[in-house]
Amino acid sequence: MEVAPLTLEDVDAVVTRIARRLRDDARRNNLVAPALDRAVTADALRAAAPSLWVARRRGVVVGHLYGAVLDDRAGRAAWIGPDGSSFDDVDTLASLYAVAGRAWLDAGAARHIAWALDDVTRTTPWFELGFARVSVRASRRLSDQRVRPLPVGYRWRRGSGDDLDAAVVLAREIDHAQALGPSFLRDADEESLRATLIETFDDPDTIHHLVEYGERVVAQAITFPLDARRGSYDDSWHLSTVAVAREHRGRGVATALVDLALADARGRGGRVMETSWRATNRDAQRFWLGYGFRPTYVRLLRRVGVDE
Ligand SMILES: CC(C)(COP(=O)(O)OP(=O)(O)OC[C@H]1O[C@@H](n2cnc3c(N)ncnc32)[C@H](O)[C@@H]1OP(=O)(O)O)[C@@H](O)C(=O)NCCC(=O)NCCS
Repeated sequence: MEVAPLTLEDVDAVVTRIARRLRDDARRNNLVAPALDRAVTADALRAAAPSLWVARRRGVVVGHLYGAVLDDRAGRAAWIGPDGSSFDDVDTLASLYAVAGRAWLDAGAARHIAWALDDVTRTTPWFELGFARVSVRASRRLSDQRVRPLPVGYRWRRGSGDDLDAAVVLAREIDHAQALGPSFLRDADEESLRATLIETFDDPDTIHHLVEYGERVVAQAITFPLDARRGSYDDSWHLSTVAVAREHRGRGVATALVDLALADARGRGGRVMETSWRATNRDAQRFWLGYGFRPTYVRLLRRVGVDE
């Protein structure tokens, strides 16, 4: 096996591999859209060379790997998107990762993050190389939307600019839940949470759904239409920041709120709703799977440099 940077002659072969793999993803999971713009993909590959690695066996392309090295709050990481890899077997991925991973480490990126279809055939090769499942993306079609009533005493209303403080308090509930085991994530940084919410609400298409009990806001959900992206159907929406104040949980508040948010998106032309959660947030995972969301892609993580 030979691993070398992408050359212009390889572009077509790699696009074909990506298109074939996406078709196969869509066959395995009908919430994944199979459409791929070959010209856009080819341009993206050309832009990514020379940090895109290609594996060849006897001159034939048998895999590729590309990770974008980016900085975020947690530091520098290499992000491998769903189109950032293809491989016929674990050893092809291992050969590619040995070379690409070295380059990422040399660039200061010891966190390696890969998106893969949530299917054992796709995730196992990454697990073999020390990656673990950290978060789950999931979808639900909006065609058969029920609207169950909120429990007695609870009222829905649409949020406005005046609800930012309540939105921050409820968004922090997610971080509090995930600061506990088995997630053990860092607790909320209120300022960056507030900044993210301000940016989200700045978009006129964002809808802030609130539930009140008496005078108090006790639950929220945020929805917005997604920009077109590979693997997602047109007219997909995103649902995020769903939280219910602790003392109001287990009464069907989230179920009724999500029903309303999904029905609202459907009324605005949405056909599919997407959401995501941390794999270790077991309450969230049980809630979303119970509600009827089905996983599509999972985010896998390896931190290099921690002795095991
Ligand atoms: C996940 C979360 C939003 C669920 O909110 P909730 O209002 O408790 O959800 P519901 O009451 O609709 O459903 C929760 C459970 O109560 C059950 N339930 C619903 N109505 C009920 C009722 N009247 N009586 C008894 N149980 C009921 C549901 O069947 C569900 O059971 P399950 O967990 O076994 O599936 C909430 O736990 C939360 O805010 N967690 C912290 C923040 C978070 O992690 N958010 C998710 C981010 S991805």
